[in-house]
Amino acid sequence: VSWIRRKDYHLLTVGLTTYSSDQRFQAIHLQHSEDWTLKVRFVQKRDAGIYECQVSSHPPTSLFLRLDVVEARAQISGPTDKYLKPGSTLRLQCSVVQTTEAPAFVFWYHNSRMINYDLERGINVTTDPAQRLSDLLIPAASVSHTGNYTCVPNNAIPASIYVHIFNGENPAAMQSSSPSYIRLNLNGFLLPTLVTINIIR
Ligand SMILES: *[C@@H]1O[C@H](CO)[C@@H](O)[C@H](O)[C@H]1NC(C)=O
Ligand SMILES: *[C@@H]1O[C@H](CO)[C@@H](O)[C@H](O)[C@H]1NC(C)=O
Repeated sequence: VSWIRRKDYHLLTVGLTTYSSDQRFQAIHLQHSEDWTLKVRFVQKRDAGIYECQVSSHPPTSLFLRLDVVEARAQISGPTDKYLKPGSTLRLQCSVVQTTEAPAFVFWYHNSRMINYDLERGINVTTDPAQRLSDLLIPAASVSHTGNYTCVPNNAIPASIYVHIFNGENPAAMQSSSPSYIRLNLNGFLLPTLVTINIIR
């Protein structure tokens, strides 16, 4: 049994031998079993696509499988810009979506400062890993709380929102609304997920 990546006709494994110079690919087969598993370690976004499992019978037969790779990411609810008056309550909710595992921790940043433990500055962060949720609450926001808030789960792409806190009469900007999250730094935050494709004849 051989495994072939169809995108570039790259021969990955033949029997139990890895042909690819990319050692993330490995064939697994237990004696007397009819399963030939292709194991791909440290899956990357670029691994997505069609894979062929070819059986060297006469004539050869093939099965094709499509591998989808999804990236876990943070998402802050609401528009990417938020406008508040001093004294009002700022509440931000960050959810971790498309994830297979609960985050071990979620850090919040105000500009470049980590603020999870900044209770004395009026900031209250509570995280519920099982629900994949983290809340940031500032009961009485002041002008100094203006800035860029970033939610950084340990296992997902971060998300940011910009909070404007100022005294103003109905600024046109208050009508602003934009997509609910932005993506950052796509490459550094891939999950080291293990994906196996299992063929059972
Ligand atoms: C922080 O907020 C949570 C609810 O979101 C609340 O239960 C908790 O008492 C707050 N902690 C402080 C110190 O205000
Ligand atoms: C907010 O902070 C993030 C992370 O540092 C950064 O990538 C992003 O560009 C910042 N956004 C704005 C509007 O400053």
